[in-house]
Amino acid sequence: MTSKSPLPATFRPSGPLTGDISVPGDKSISHRALILSALAIGKSRITGLLEGEDVLATADALRAMGTRIEKKDDVWTVHGVGVGGLMQPENALEMGNSGTSTRLLMGLVASHGISATFIGDASLAKRPMGRVIDPLSRMGADIRARETSDHKSCLPLTVRGICPAVPIEYRLPVASAQVKSAILLAGLNTPGITRIIEPVLTRDHSETMLKGFGAEIRVETDAEDCRIISLTGEAELKPQKIKVPGDPSSAAFLVVAALIVPGSNIVIENVGINPTRTGLFDVLQNMGGDISFKKKRTVSGEPVADIHVRHSPLSGIDVPASIAPSMIDEFPILFVAAALASGQTTTSGLHELRVKESDRLTQMAEGLGRLGVTLTEKEDGLVIEGSGGKPLSGGRAKPVIETALDHRIAMSFAIAGLVTKSGLSIDDIMPAQTSFPGFQDLVARLAS
Ligand code: S3P
Repeated sequence: MTSKSPLPATFRPSGPLTGDISVPGDKSISHRALILSALAIGKSRITGLLEGEDVLATADALRAMGTRIEKKDDVWTVHGVGVGGLMQPENALEMGNSGTSTRLLMGLVASHGISATFIGDASLAKRPMGRVIDPLSRMGADIRARETSDHKSCLPLTVRGICPAVPIEYRLPVASAQVKSAILLAGLNTPGITRIIEPVLTRDHSETMLKGFGAEIRVETDAEDCRIISLTGEAELKPQKIKVPGDPSSAAFLVVAALIVPGSNIVIENVGINPTRTGLFDVLQNMGGDISFKKKRTVSGEPVADIHVRHSPLSGIDVPASIAPSMIDEFPILFVAAALASGQTTTSGLHELRVKESDRLTQMAEGLGRLGVTLTEKEDGLVIEGSGGKPLSGGRAKPVIETALDHRIAMSFAIAGLVTKSGLSIDDIMPAQTSFPGFQDLVARLAS
């Protein structure tokens, strides 16, 4: 997983995108579906699971810790070992590019009497793990990580779990669903009540799914509008049948593509529209995007809809920092939409983007700059002057865009290529496999 060869790709100006399509399963929900199924007692069945590399890394790690996981036709069956039933893995757990696998599984190991070493690719090895090491250490886990010259704790790292762990009350210092979920997963095998204070709401799939599996979890809001999440430990989870909806973070690329390619008109079926995830769609509608949600329904506890998108002239706006957590993965593709809008788009409060699979502010600023977009990179956001719908300048002679092992950078520039004068090349489209297998074929199909 760590030694894949780069696959350069060229994306050319496109005619209208049309048709009804679907996108692969939600990445966040897929990780959680596998993990909680592994902790239930008995057989859970999952359909719609994302079969991207990140989720497969989670499945492989759970197998290495004694969980039987099989796939037949479209159904994944997980033979859960029960909370507390994970076994000592023989080898290091290979996390590839996946921060979510790493942080969630660190939480899981922390309250089991086992130890596990986590390794990953060059991008993952740069990402800060102190944010999970701190709460998990307070619960009693012993965690040894590589310290970088700028004092970050990074992979490779080893978690020596403890059983029983100590329940904690923890106020999240950073708006992160991964940190929240790591603590909740550790809390599942910890006696007593683990309590998390969440000042800024982040994606709530863990809370929803824990309830669905029968855990005792309460969510309240205090006088300062903080969420207080209380989980009773030593839980007994009941196996479930889970249908994973399409990933709104993957749909985002096609939504923006349809908005910016003249004449486009598409429907993306069966997409999750949990309000903790749909900030991008709100922002695009405010920019003038014609996006509507049809056939709204609830599937496995999550809101789902079909999304209808038509090409629209977009206007630049000020994106409030408060909306960032509900679209934290969508800023790269928003920046592409902003580059095609009329007028200026400003963003702020985006420090977290610098510690994703790449430094997404710098990668996007450099790449869009090479396409002739006028912009300013600030410490916590970009200010972009849109072209008013005029095609961006590209260059096909040599790769003009560096992907930096970041799937969302690769896919954002692939979509930007559809609205260039003569196409653009990116150095590596392989990272799209982590979250969106079939991305290139789907874009090609929509455009033909
Ligand atoms: C995720 C949470 C977010 C997001 C990531 C998936 C999750 O990360 O960027 O792609 O599934 O919990 P943070 O928790 O670091 O914001």
